Amino acid sequence: MPFAHITGWGMYVPEPVLTNDDISKLVETSDEWIRERTGIRERHIARETDFPSTMGVEAAMKALKIANLAPTELDLIICTSSSPEYIFPATACIIQDQIGATKAGAFDLQAACTGFVYALNMGAQAIRSGSMKNVLVVGTEVLSRFVNWKDRNTCILFGDGAGAFVLQASDQPGGVMSAVMHSDGSGADSLSVPAGGAHCPATEATIREGKHFIQMDGKEVFRFATRVMGKAVTEALEKINLTTGDAQWIVPHQANYRIIETAARHLKMPLDKFVINVERYGNTSTASIPIATIEAVNKAQIKPKDKVVFVAFGGGLTWGAMVVEWTGPLPAKKHVRVEPYRLLARLRSFIRRALRFIEGFLSRKEL
Ligand code: UT7
Repeated sequence: MPFAHITGWGMYVPEPVLTNDDISKLVETSDEWIRERTGIRERHIARETDFPSTMGVEAAMKALKIANLAPTELDLIICTSSSPEYIFPATACIIQDQIGATKAGAFDLQAACTGFVYALNMGAQAIRSGSMKNVLVVGTEVLSRFVNWKDRNTCILFGDGAGAFVLQASDQPGGVMSAVMHSDGSGADSLSVPAGGAHCPATEATIREGKHFIQMDGKEVFRFATRVMGKAVTEALEKINLTTGDAQWIVPHQANYRIIETAARHLKMPLDKFVINVERYGNTSTASIPIATIEAVNKAQIKPKDKVVFVAFGGGLTWGAMVVEWTGPLPAKKHVRVEPYRLLARLRSFIRRALRFIEGFLSRKEL
């Protein structure tokens, strides 16, 4: 059975930064309150020209470059987002088109902030089964467009950004070692965007009532998160007969510093084993785990052979954890220049759209 290794990684955050002081001009809050209750100081906010797809593409291209893999070699793209481009088509398909992954299947996976752990596990299982060799997993968020900037309960928390991993098959042991995925739909109301789906289609009233924005019972989500995080870490480690002592790093979903602190206490682990960057990005939902991991890799904190545990929780309710032995790029047979594929992809997409238009025009004329 092949092993599924993380061989490439990339992140993208839009440049504009919104500080707590900036938010205190929008709602009644303060830098002190936000820092004390969440650990967040600032977050990045998408410009008008940034979309989940465009940010996902930037992260994906960086990940492919590190993996030394051409987009045309990808078998599958899984995109996970709590703020997707559309209900459909899948954001994954837009990314597939923009990077020129001509051979890849593409779909979106929805598990709110747990999405990246779920998607990584699904990608790894596709590789473990032998049916796929190269899988791209993208978590990408423009949550700022789903936040009610008049609601101080939620607008202080979220930020925008994207992260991507390339998973590749190898006979060498390592990579994704175990994972657990859980859900409890009885808590669906605790964290949701209630309108815009089939249950509550868009109407003037839903817009007036702000039902297209994130609604959250903060206290309930806090209690749930602190209950499940530690347990999920232990469960994923126990599946492969490891304990917390065997893990070099825990990369938790970056929602709130206090939640991470409580999880560390439950696990009886020192906080310096946790990768934490919530201070500078806020909660970027599905992108938070890859962004935190990549920063730790770039600082040479996470190193090859380290056992790393990803753990996340979010709307659904969902939660899950994954144990990974960090490896890095597979030995290269050739150097792949990834950037030209992107230009070719644009050209290809343009030609296909033009051909589709001409075909449509001609068939209308025939009728
Ligand atoms: O990916 C998952 C996403 N969600 C989460 O992770 C959310 C988890 N929950 C949380 O992080 C916390 O519950 C919050 C940060 C959202 C809130 O912190 P809290 O310590 O649970 O505060 P609270 O809701 O109990 O509110 C305490 C007080 C209230 O005032 P009163 O009723 O005691 O007078 C709130 O009205 O703080 C008030 N408050 C604020 N004050 C200043 C609530 N939000 C704010 C604010 N600034 N932004």
